[in-house]
Amino acid sequence: MHDNIGLGTFKATPRTRELVNAVLDSGRLSYGPMSKMLEKEFSRIHRCSYGVLSNSGTSSLHVSLQALKELHGWEDGAKVLVPAITFVATINVVIHNNMWPIFVDVDPRTYNIDLSTMKSRDIDSKCIIPVHLFGQPANMTEVVSIAEAHDMKIIEDACETMFATHRGQHVGSIGDIGCFSFYMAHLITAGVGGMSTTNNPDYAAKMRSLVNHGRDGIYISMDDNTGENKEEVMSRRFRFDSYGHSFRITELEAAVALAQLFDWEEMIANRVSNAGILSKALYNVLEVSLPYVAPENTHSYMMYPIVLNFGDKWELCTHLERNGVETREMLPITNQPIYSHRIRAGEFPVAENINKNGFYVGCHQGLDHDDMYKIADLIKEYYRK
Ligand SMILES: Cc1ncc(COP(=O)(O)O)c(C=O)c1O
Repeated sequence: MHDNIGLGTFKATPRTRELVNAVLDSGRLSYGPMSKMLEKEFSRIHRCSYGVLSNSGTSSLHVSLQALKELHGWEDGAKVLVPAITFVATINVVIHNNMWPIFVDVDPRTYNIDLSTMKSRDIDSKCIIPVHLFGQPANMTEVVSIAEAHDMKIIEDACETMFATHRGQHVGSIGDIGCFSFYMAHLITAGVGGMSTTNNPDYAAKMRSLVNHGRDGIYISMDDNTGENKEEVMSRRFRFDSYGHSFRITELEAAVALAQLFDWEEMIANRVSNAGILSKALYNVLEVSLPYVAPENTHSYMMYPIVLNFGDKWELCTHLERNGVETREMLPITNQPIYSHRIRAGEFPVAENINKNGFYVGCHQGLDHDDMYKIADLIKEYYRK
C-alpha cells in the first residue's frame, strides 16, 4: 500500500534510459528516428497508416480540425458537435479554429456523448468530436451512423484512451482522425506530447505541415535535404502553404514515450485488475455509481470515475484527500465561467449531474490491490458516518 494514492505514475525503465541516452549520444534533438519510430509503432497498434506527432493532445486536436476545415473548405462559424462532459481543450480548439461548438448531453452510464439527445437543427454540423473518457470508447457505432447520414467528419478525442476497442475496432482508427495525449497521468506519458492518427494521406500531410508552421510538406526535417531531388527541396523548403504553428516535440519525449510502448499490454492489464478490485469492493455501496463498461467496448482505465447518488461530493473528496487519496472533479464543462454564455442551466441534465456529483481517483499500474481496498474502505467509512 502507498501513503499517497495518486492519479498518475511514471517510472523510467532500463529501456527508457537506453533510448534517451541514444538520443543524447546522437546529438539530434529535432524530428528524427525516435519520433518516426513512435509514430510508426503507435499508429500501427491503433490500426492506422499514419501518425503525426505534436507537442500536446490539444495541438493534435487543433491541427486535426484545422486540416479538415482547410481541406473541405468549411466556413468560419461552422458547427462542431462536442460532448458536454470533457476536458476544456476539446472545446477550446473548436473556438480557436473559428468554429462553433454545439454541446450534446452524455450517456448516464458511460459518460460519453449521447447523440440521441442532439437537436435536429444541428444535423448541419460539419464535424463530431466524440471523446473517449477515462479509457472507454464512446458509442462509435452511433457516431459513425450519424456522421455518414449527415455528411459529417469525425475526430476522435482519444486523449484519455489508448489501446481500447469498440466492436473490435481500435480507438483512433474509427473516425477520420484520432487524437492522443502523452501528458502527465495519461496512459503513456512523456510529460508532454500528442499524436494524430489517420488512414487518410492528405489529412496526415496537412496535419504534419500545420505542426511545422504550415510549411510545404517537401521539407519537414533535415532528412529531407538528402534525397535525390535536392534542388526541388532547396527551392521549396522555405515555402509556407497554411497559417501553421510551432507544435513540434523533441526526440527526448519521443524516446520516453516509445519505451513505454514495449510494455503497454501489461500496463493496461494492471489497470483493469485494479479497477476490477475497486468495483468489487464497492459493488454493494448503493450511494455511488461505478464505471459501467458497455459490452461492445474494452476499457483502458486511465482513471476510475465515481458518481454519487447520495451525499456530498466535496465532503467525500475531502475525506479521501485527508487520507492520502488524490481526487479530481469529473471534467466540468457546464459550470465553467468561460462557457456560461453558451450553456443554459438545465439544458444538459446528465452532464450537470455528473459535474455536481462526479469525481475520479487513480487506478494506474503504480498502485496495488491494497490501495484499491483502502479507497473502498474510506468511501464506506464516509457513508457509515
Ligand atoms: C479529453 C481530453 N482532451 C484533450 C486533452 C488535452 O491533452 P494535452 O494536455 O496533452 O494538451 C486532455 C488532457 O488532459 C483530455 O483529457
